[in-house]
Amino acid sequence: QGVQIIVFPEDGIHGFNYSRESIYHFLETIPDPRSVKWNPCLEPQAFNNTEVLQRLSCMAKEGRMYLVANMPDKQPCNNSDPHCPSDGRYQFNTDVVFSDDGTLVARYHKQNLFFEFEFDTPREVEHVVFDTPFAGKFGVFTCFDLLFYEPAVSLIEKHAVQQIVFPTAWMNLLPLLTAIQSQRAFATAFNVNFLAANLHHPILRMTGSGIYSPSKSVYYHNEENEEGKLLVAELPITSPTKPQTDQVLQMESHLDSLKSSSPLVVTGKGSHQPGLHCAKEEREGQCQDLLDPATLSFHAIIMYDNYTITPLTEPMGNLQVCYKSLCCYLTYELTAAHKEQYVLVAFDDPHTVEGTFYIQVCALIKCAGPGLDTCGVAVKEATSIIDFKLWGNFSTKHIFPDILASKMTLDLPDSIGWENNNTTYHMSKKGMTSGLITAGLYGRWYERDSL
Ligand SMILES: *[C@@H]1O[C@H](CO)[C@@H](O)[C@H](O)[C@H]1NC(C)=O
Ligand SMILES: *[C@@H]1O[C@H](CO)[C@@H](O)[C@H](O)[C@H]1NC(C)=O
Ligand SMILES: *[C@@H]1O[C@H](CO)[C@@H](O)[C@H](O)[C@H]1NC(C)=O
Ligand SMILES: *[C@@H]1O[C@H](CO)[C@@H](O)[C@H](O)[C@H]1NC(C)=O
Ligand SMILES: *[C@@H]1O[C@H](CO)[C@@H](O)[C@H](O)[C@H]1NC(C)=O
Ligand SMILES: *[C@@H]1O[C@H](CO)[C@@H](O)[C@H](O)[C@H]1NC(C)=O
Ligand SMILES: *[C@@H]1O[C@H](CO)[C@@H](O)[C@H](O)[C@H]1NC(C)=O
Repeated sequence: QGVQIIVFPEDGIHGFNYSRESIYHFLETIPDPRSVKWNPCLEPQAFNNTEVLQRLSCMAKEGRMYLVANMPDKQPCNNSDPHCPSDGRYQFNTDVVFSDDGTLVARYHKQNLFFEFEFDTPREVEHVVFDTPFAGKFGVFTCFDLLFYEPAVSLIEKHAVQQIVFPTAWMNLLPLLTAIQSQRAFATAFNVNFLAANLHHPILRMTGSGIYSPSKSVYYHNEENEEGKLLVAELPITSPTKPQTDQVLQMESHLDSLKSSSPLVVTGKGSHQPGLHCAKEEREGQCQDLLDPATLSFHAIIMYDNYTITPLTEPMGNLQVCYKSLCCYLTYELTAAHKEQYVLVAFDDPHTVEGTFYIQVCALIKCAGPGLDTCGVAVKEATSIIDFKLWGNFSTKHIFPDILASKMTLDLPDSIGWENNNTTYHMSKKGMTSGLITAGLYGRWYERDSL
């Protein structure tokens, strides 16, 4: 098919859920390609116990394509190194890259481990970049790295990378952190090409791979069965990241009508408003109990975090919801309404379950059922078509915009970027062809992670 580069998923060769000891026989000592030029296919004797590296190198050579794979690396150490583990070796979750003649050209040790007790965290962050004749420089990082500044964002902001390869074993988390959604959001946020290979393991909620340019998504998400898929796509080479300001104003005109439509329309106290659906049979009075009459908002746990939430109660309008110093705003119009409950949600605090990192989030999400107690519960289908503009006064400049539509499909915003003298970040979309599940502005405030 004329492919120039192929990316395999994280843990795809050896599997996962090992202890430090039980992974031992899968480890190979991978030489540092910055100090050794080595083609394992042509020179298999140069390093002992490197059968996996040899096989991958031969695949790259025979297929005449760059090849990116993930495998575990062991690096011997001794007590001349005060950090050397007691078993005399470092064990790293590692991506290897071969050029199209089989030469090992890059090696990356994963920085942000996700409960991988079999592996060590590298003492120093590695910024691994490799050059290709067909698309220039690529950066490489792995799975959970996506959520952190080092090395993912610094590869782009400090090492001028415009292409990313991304082996991953990502567990989907609705409504904001499914695999394809996070991949798409990263490519959108940084205007990069992003080649993401996820494991296909539906029982563990690992599904969703894609090849993304700033404006195109080719992806596969299938949780129904074990069938994987080889994705092939042709991407334009992206130009250096432009300031997002040039995207800002292009789609404002269609929103003028929305903006001027009406002021805040939420009045009254909840369950008796048209459009605010409570599961009345089971939960008499639930809406009144839930909604704070002063702010018309309530709290609920979404993806382990306690969000502030305001329901959409009218077919069109303007809403706002705040959490600490973050205020989120929504101007919307339901063009095809189907008695589905939507809410505007805000969060501005450290996320502390399954990793600790500070997030600022504004999102419009569909609740799983008619009751407000179902908001934040995973849902995958929707029929309501909503034109919207969503924005917030974020304190971080790193915001990942995404739109997830019914049946796990992706859509692209019409417009994203900073407005109001760089004080608010917005995303707008009109005329979606399928129902909205999530419109998210997922902000990462990296500077606050360690506070
Ligand atoms: C991982 O290993 C633990 C302990 O060996 C086991 O209890 C658990 O079920 C395993 N998880 C998966 C996903 O295989
Ligand atoms: C590989 O292992 C053999 C047998 O143990 C040994 O003789 C040889 O020196 C080793 N080669 C390298 C490059 O380490
Ligand atoms: C200890 O490790 C260092 C660095 O890898 C190496 O240069 C040295 O030869 C090792 N010393 C012994 C006694 O193995
Ligand atoms: C969520 O936050 C609100 C407001 O601070 C608090 O009243 C509520 O108890 C919290 N809920 C949970 C489950 O922690
Ligand atoms: C966001 O807007 C709210 C409401 O105007 C304000 O109280 C808050 O200080 C603003 N946050 C920032 C970071 O400017
Ligand atoms: C725009 O922001 C800058 C920097 O925060 C500030 O100095 C300036 O006064 C602002 N301009 C307006 C028109 O608000
Ligand atoms: C907003 O910030 C960008 C990047 O820092 C800058 O180039 C632009 O001039 C700013 N716009 C305004 C209106 O201050």
